[in-house]
Amino acid sequence: MPVYNLSDIEAAAKQFIDKMTGDFWSGGANELLTVSENVSAYGDYRIRPRYMRDVAVVSTTAKNKLFGKEFAIPCGIAPSSFHKLAHADGELATGAAAKSRNWPMAISSYSSYSLEDVSKVSGDNLLFFQLYVFKNRDTSTDLVRRAEAAGFKAILVTIDSPFLGLRFSERQNKFTLPRGILAANFAGGRYAGPIDVSIDHKSESKGPGANKSLFEGPKPNVIDPGLTWEDIKWLKSITTLEVWVKGVLTSEDAEDAIQAGASGIWVSNHGGRQLDGCLPTLHALPEVVKAVNGRIPVHLDGGIRKGSDIFRALALGADFVWIGRPILWGLKYNGQEGLETVERLLEEEFKLVLALSGCTSPSEITKGHLTKRPGSTWSKL
Ligand SMILES: Cc1cc2nc3c(=O)[nH]c(=O)nc-3n(C[C@H](O)[C@H](O)[C@H](O)COP(=O)(O)O)c2cc1C
Repeated sequence: MPVYNLSDIEAAAKQFIDKMTGDFWSGGANELLTVSENVSAYGDYRIRPRYMRDVAVVSTTAKNKLFGKEFAIPCGIAPSSFHKLAHADGELATGAAAKSRNWPMAISSYSSYSLEDVSKVSGDNLLFFQLYVFKNRDTSTDLVRRAEAAGFKAILVTIDSPFLGLRFSERQNKFTLPRGILAANFAGGRYAGPIDVSIDHKSESKGPGANKSLFEGPKPNVIDPGLTWEDIKWLKSITTLEVWVKGVLTSEDAEDAIQAGASGIWVSNHGGRQLDGCLPTLHALPEVVKAVNGRIPVHLDGGIRKGSDIFRALALGADFVWIGRPILWGLKYNGQEGLETVERLLEEEFKLVLALSGCTSPSEITKGHLTKRPGSTWSKL
């Protein structure tokens, strides 16, 4: 089946996905309002192109380097759990595809290959380690140490998940990981006590005070719902790596993140999998960019499916964007090669959008390249 864009790849992948995995990937919290608004928000902006500007040669690399490096386009691989659900090579294929097309990659705490194994296939490519801070701080500290030793460049703390969002399809399907797929970073009895990976695959047990019996002892390896910005300061105190914060949707949290010492911000709502009805990320972006005012980089994920989406996010002030679900579709479609197809299609689309808008590089994208549908954005009350 020939594929011309990411929708084609999604459709092709869906032919081979079992219902439980398909629902796990495409699903989100409650009525999936935020899942769909993350995507539709891009349609609230139209591009104002400029012509006659010599676009014979166009460079797609980002305005600012990321950790001193230029990437193919200002887009990377957002962290998502258990890539083995898509392909036996899982995150090894993801890491190889990231490296081969020069995209940065963020690895989930709940990867199905260990962070060390992914680091090996990634060579010197840029890796972020997405960290959940567990009640058992020793577990998180050890993950940070391992990420440092394996050459990761930043710790990306997800702050939007004190409890798991209410995902009906996962409940209906009684989602469980197939045999042979596990949270590889925790395999081999390295950590005391049970590891709760239910954050991304079992929803029944979560909620304030729920399912206490599963975790014996005072400090279980369950994501700590008691986190505050003090914990970002704590993380900074235990590592030399940069600490970035994923899940910021407001100017207030952006300011708090900066005050806590964050080196970068990801505007994200977890792909609509946590709080349904929160701001679509594209609409949260302008207030965060304004509050940050250039002090640290602002990245974004959520709903990016086309080259023109990357263009719009950059025009609204994002320094860099990341994609989640399309990675899984690409892997399912054809492993490493399928993911490279996703990357190539986005690169080609983005390059063409730049040229057709009159830009020879992302650094020429400005707010003036967009116009918005009347009444289409939200503002603080
Ligand atoms: C199946 C799946 C698993 C995910 N697992 C994680 C995770 O382990 N940690 C995390 O911070 N975000 C996780 N995310 C959220 C992504 O990092 C990202 O925020 C989101 O997918 C971006 O939206 P998009 O899928 O519309 O591109 C997951 C998303 C999906 C779809």
